[in-house]
Amino acid sequence: MTKIKNPSASIKSANRQSVKIKKAVFPVAGLGTRFLPATKATPKEMLPVVDKPLIEYAVEEAIAAGITELIFITSYSKRAIEDHFDSHFELETRLQQSNKTALLEKIRATYSENVSFIYIRQPEPKGLGDAILCAKPAVNNEPFAVLLADDLIESGARPCLTQMMSVYEKTGGSVVAVEKIAPEDSDKYGIVDIQTHLEDIGSYAEASALIEKPTPAQAPSSFGIVGRYILSQHIFAYLEHAEVGAGNEIQLTDAIARLIEEGVYAYRFQGKRYDCGSKLGYLKATVNYALKHPELADGFRAYIKQLNTINR
Ligand code: G1P
Repeated sequence: MTKIKNPSASIKSANRQSVKIKKAVFPVAGLGTRFLPATKATPKEMLPVVDKPLIEYAVEEAIAAGITELIFITSYSKRAIEDHFDSHFELETRLQQSNKTALLEKIRATYSENVSFIYIRQPEPKGLGDAILCAKPAVNNEPFAVLLADDLIESGARPCLTQMMSVYEKTGGSVVAVEKIAPEDSDKYGIVDIQTHLEDIGSYAEASALIEKPTPAQAPSSFGIVGRYILSQHIFAYLEHAEVGAGNEIQLTDAIARLIEEGVYAYRFQGKRYDCGSKLGYLKATVNYALKHPELADGFRAYIKQLNTINR
């Protein structure tokens, strides 16, 4: 992992001690309007990529990174998420009686004795920043992670959040995952100003500004934030006094920009991110995950080849 120095930003966190991150926040209260009508009665985070809902991929990533307290910011229409991570007595008994142990293992893997699941309601959809503020009573006074489940990140043996933990341990500052985006897409992302080039995958640099959804002309770089963050607890003070920003919502990016004083690092993660909040991104994820799925890969690859031949 290379650190790229940002000449214009002073290093404030060099001597700071990093504490172990144990808590992760999953904002899941959003309405999922980009995926209607599928998300009218089903939370978008419960849409499956092959055979697992998006939220479970994010939860697995967090647990692999050492998270033991999972805090979900939810709303009235998201009860399916709570049920998914709860035990299901009747189903488990039936699977046990019919000796379907592999399936039983799979559904039991959705909850674990070593981790706690905490659910907090966001009363009104006032934006991502407001959702994170709802987590304050559970997070308390320690740095924490945030995972947006509709950004599905495939990164092999070293999940994205685990990679970010290393940057956090080195810097003690807040860390946002970034990837290179097409300039015309800047108004879909939080954009970081790093005044350097993050040429290498796996490198990080100190941010000197963050802007939520700028126009291409206003964008300070082509590095967009993807849905993985490690944040200082001081963010809550900024969120408490936040004004509405882009899209008339309380934006997380605006509050992170205020953490720059204490050090915010943009990390160019290793892996591939799928924007599963969009139909095209979701389809791409489904195809790629199916092509790697142990039960489906061969049959699905043959089918894709056949389609290719027919459409040629
Ligand atoms: C949110 C954040 C944005 C970030 C994006 C990543 O936007 O506000 O800064 O780049 O997630 O997916 P949303 O996709 O909710 O509009």
